[in-house]
Amino acid sequence: MRHRNDPRTHRPRALFAGAAAAAGLAIAGCAYDGPAPSCPPGGTALTWEGFAQPFYESYCTRCHASDLDGWYRQGAPGYWNYDDFEEATVVDTADGDLGVVWRVVAEEARMPPNSWVRPSRGEIADLGEWLACGQPE
Ligand code: HEC
Repeated sequence: MRHRNDPRTHRPRALFAGAAAAAGLAIAGCAYDGPAPSCPPGGTALTWEGFAQPFYESYCTRCHASDLDGWYRQGAPGYWNYDDFEEATVVDTADGDLGVVWRVVAEEARMPPNSWVRPSRGEIADLGEWLACGQPE
């Protein structure tokens, strides 16, 4: 029978923790370094339905959804929700300021939090274009 501090049962766990910490370090601080987003002269083909809603569903609404509260929000502030068009677009981004979403996702790279799969560089670029065009529905 194995005891709790049997090194054979502990080593794999220590290795796992080490690998997880290394992965966390590799992901943290990877701020978006692509070109500054702008709205193309002819407008964008990216819409809430075609792009932003599925983007937010993949990366944000497990914590930031209006039907979640308490523990289920995993600490996400109650006033930021991305499951509903009106709430998701409450910050106006049409006049050059891309708002809090751009700051936390691209510039600071802290949303989604480190333990989550991050959006790709291309997805972040698309997010920037959609925001720069004023978040079309
Ligand atoms: C695993 C849960 C989780 C996911 C997924 C997640 N968030 Fe968060 N979010 C949090 C927590 C916890 C906080 C509060 C702590 C903080 O600000 O770092 C937060 C804070 C925020 C804030 C407020 C930041 C500020 O400076 O006031 C915004 C905006 C935000 N998240 C947007 C997003 C967006 C957009 C996504 C998807 C790209 C996302 N979050 C994904 C948990 C999450």
